[in-house]
Amino acid sequence: MNLPNLKEAKRRSKKEVLVHQYKSDESLKNLGLNKTYHIKTYGCQMNEHDTENIKAILEELSFTETNKMNDADLILLNTCAIRENAHNKVFGMIGRIKHLKESKPEVIVGICGCMAQEEHIVDEIMNKYKWLDMVFGTHNIYDLPNLLNKTMKSNKLEIDVQSIEGDIIECMPSKRDSKHKAWVNIMYGCDKFCTYCIVPYTRGKQRSRRSVDIVNEVKHLVNNGYSEITLLGQNVNAYGKDLDIEYSMANLLEDVSKTGIKRIRFVTSHPWDFTDEMIKMIQKYDNIMPYIHLPIQSGSNRILKLMGRKYTKEQYFELFTKLKEAIPNCSITTDIIVGYPTETTEEFNETLEMVNKCQFDSAFTFIFSPRVGTPASKMEDNITLKEKNRRLHQLNDLINQYALSNNQKYLDKVVPVLIEGYSNKDKTLMGYTDTMKLVNVKGDETNIGKIVDVQITDVKTWSLDGKICNQDC
Ligand code: SAH
Ligand code: SF4
Ligand code: F3S
Repeated sequence: MNLPNLKEAKRRSKKEVLVHQYKSDESLKNLGLNKTYHIKTYGCQMNEHDTENIKAILEELSFTETNKMNDADLILLNTCAIRENAHNKVFGMIGRIKHLKESKPEVIVGICGCMAQEEHIVDEIMNKYKWLDMVFGTHNIYDLPNLLNKTMKSNKLEIDVQSIEGDIIECMPSKRDSKHKAWVNIMYGCDKFCTYCIVPYTRGKQRSRRSVDIVNEVKHLVNNGYSEITLLGQNVNAYGKDLDIEYSMANLLEDVSKTGIKRIRFVTSHPWDFTDEMIKMIQKYDNIMPYIHLPIQSGSNRILKLMGRKYTKEQYFELFTKLKEAIPNCSITTDIIVGYPTETTEEFNETLEMVNKCQFDSAFTFIFSPRVGTPASKMEDNITLKEKNRRLHQLNDLINQYALSNNQKYLDKVVPVLIEGYSNKDKTLMGYTDTMKLVNVKGDETNIGKIVDVQITDVKTWSLDGKICNQDC
């Protein structure tokens, strides 16, 4: 049994990161014969992509997917630890699954993802949720076949979580959700240690994949008909800084764009590492999309300093302006935290001021949530929940106002949209513009998977409506 350890998770070793090739274990290929699995995924794109890997690994073991949790022989929760409500959702789901397990004791229930990397969560699982069958972390997904084999033979809780980040595993299989757009990891972990954030502890130190492996993955996706890729990392702009060769995110953008993939996106960009060379690449290559997610977090220099973000609001605005000037029609979205410990009303108002200056296309906004083990969690949380909610609502109202006014600029324009499929509502198609605007489109299914010209006929705060263009557009 390997248990997570907070002290080890905080450490950054100098150990060289090795690259291994994933190998399927032939002897386990019938482990899941006539059995089904169901996975619930919480959290960010990184977790969504991990789930795609887990699904493919399970299918190599002959498991088949079911979308009905109650029918599954194996249930996995791929969890997120970023805020308290992510925890609560998972514990709520564990409560529901307990009832299921009581009436169907043979079902195997496992917890993985970022919560599994947290020492105090695994302690809680060992004390209060002994009926669970297995726990594994973010660093040993490749070893799932062995752990599952062990779990299926034993009737006790099996835990295998590594706190020291592992090596890089290439060629893990992937059962991708979409046939048109794909996630591509370019790096794992994060070394920024923003004072509020749990990710550097749950995902380990920054480890960049070799560019040749990334480019080969993208070429493979192009050959398989994919139109769009999103390069994934907690802080993609720092890509390559941990490699022993001179090779940066700008170099990677250039090499990936030369594969001919139609659309390239990348998330998330930390303002700290955004270089002029990156901007030049976005300008130079048409297949790098004019869309940047650039979290500001706060508009107060004192709070930014406490957060460990390493830029001032002035530096953020300078970068923001440079991007807007260099990349015509570029859309920029952001993340903002309200109620960081000791944030005053005046400091919160400075955040509103920055929103007024930047007029973001949209934003994810959050109330600060103390995470065990982070420096911010040790600060006195001196703001009432009522006040935090007030700030969040005021901020959201402003964000929505700018989201709508930015969308209004699209009315009657013709924009390229990658049609992904039907929207949930009705027989309307949906897709995203190059600038990452969600568009509901009237049209038939022959357009799915294509990038088509769409004329915008109506705008809302969070989406646009449009029709596919004929010659008369
Ligand atoms: N790596 C990305 C962010 C990953 S987490 C980056 O640095 O931009 C996504 C967002 O969650 C963060 O940008 C932040 O706004 C928010 N977040 C992270 N930790 C949080 C916490 N403890 N409380 C509230 N929001 C948090
Ligand atoms: Fe968290 Fe900061 Fe790393 Fe983003 S850059 S994952 S907010 S520590
Ligand atoms: Fe959550 Fe882990 Fe992503 S904490 S936001 S799933 S990296």
